[in-house]
Amino acid sequence: MSNADLQTRKNAATPRGVGVMTDFYAARAENSEIWDVEGRRFIDFGGGIAVINTGHRHPKQVAAIKAQLDSFTHTAYQIVPYEGYVSLAEKINDRTPGMHAKKTAFFTTGAEAVENAIKIARAATKRAGVIAFTGGFHGRTMMGMALTGKVAPYKIGFGPFPSEIYHAPFPVELHGVSVHDSLKAIHNLFKADIEPTRVAAIILEPVQGEGGFYQAPVEFMRELRKICDEHGILLIADEVQTGFGRTGKMFAMEHYDVHADLITFAKSLAGGMPLSGVCGRAEIMDAPAPGGLGGTYAGNALAIASAHAVLDIIDSENLLDRANVLGEKIKARLNEIRKDVPQISDVRGPGAMNAVEFVDPATGLPSPEFTQKVRIAALNKGLLLLSCGTYANVIRFLFPLTIQDNVFDEGMGILESVLRDAAKA
Ligand SMILES: Cc1ncc(COP(=O)(O)O)c(C=O)c1O
Repeated sequence: MSNADLQTRKNAATPRGVGVMTDFYAARAENSEIWDVEGRRFIDFGGGIAVINTGHRHPKQVAAIKAQLDSFTHTAYQIVPYEGYVSLAEKINDRTPGMHAKKTAFFTTGAEAVENAIKIARAATKRAGVIAFTGGFHGRTMMGMALTGKVAPYKIGFGPFPSEIYHAPFPVELHGVSVHDSLKAIHNLFKADIEPTRVAAIILEPVQGEGGFYQAPVEFMRELRKICDEHGILLIADEVQTGFGRTGKMFAMEHYDVHADLITFAKSLAGGMPLSGVCGRAEIMDAPAPGGLGGTYAGNALAIASAHAVLDIIDSENLLDRANVLGEKIKARLNEIRKDVPQISDVRGPGAMNAVEFVDPATGLPSPEFTQKVRIAALNKGLLLLSCGTYANVIRFLFPLTIQDNVFDEGMGILESVLRDAAKA
């Protein structure tokens, strides 16, 4: 089986809309490395788009899934429930920020978690409006797309979208949008588009993921909380990409001194098994009537077993500390390289949710070209990198937090050499 043959078959059998970044095919993966069908090895700094915080095939995760496989795979939780779902909800209720009474429901994908958070917010407030942010990404379902604050490639040709969704600019000082600008825009929405008493929720990612790894400033989150409290609006933190240790805390909302009413999560929760969820204030979570929430596969038993193992691994291997150590290392190295690579305009990110942003030094404008050049050169040397950002000029780092020191150093060595070469070219 060759990559070239598979590529031909893929192009004939699957639609181009499922855009695929690479042209090699996975054969196996272990911790922070992936091997393709021709035996070539890649260091994985993409983590299956933020899913593999605990590494590929962690032995504890594999054992948990195998044990569950030997008991049962699927009963449909809503038909015949199981303890693992309940105890995982208990753990999530305990671990999410805030001491208030909470409840958790599980789903399958991140987009589904977001959909359900909006359903729950609407049911609890009996209001329709939702405010989201430019550059935000919330999934590819109809509501996910409506909330997403980026047209290309996510929304093109797919409308009309659900109504009553409004976007305010996300504060990114680097691109000239201050916290004040963003708050002013929300108040303008209240003047021009929707009265605050008809707004059910404000949804944001504490650190925008696909949008470019921009973190919401502390004072912004505080002000959003104030607006929500003043008008009876719910604050939803979409932690699908930020959750489960990535930012050096279990949840990114722990970086703030205010709480969200609802949190959505997915990705690294179950380390590659499809599982997502919504956790929130108990009384809000109980607003939808029985049968209003759920899904055939929602809270699948194998995925739940995997999630228990993931939480155990994060604790037993001190992965929150590890995220901070790795994050500091990568930021220090990039800041050093930056002295010789004028295309680097920013190095940032809490914990191990780090990114490097590129501009054209001649114009100061975002450089998606340089970003692509670096990403492709790295891939050719066996390092898998992901780009992101409204201007496609950011490389984000999502390596497993369990990455071995020598593999991390090897990956950083490749990154450094391609950055230096690209700057000279
Ligand atoms: C913040 C955020 N929300 C929602 C989603 C959608 O998740 P999924 O692709 O699992 O539907 C993503 C995916 O990247 C995300 O980063």
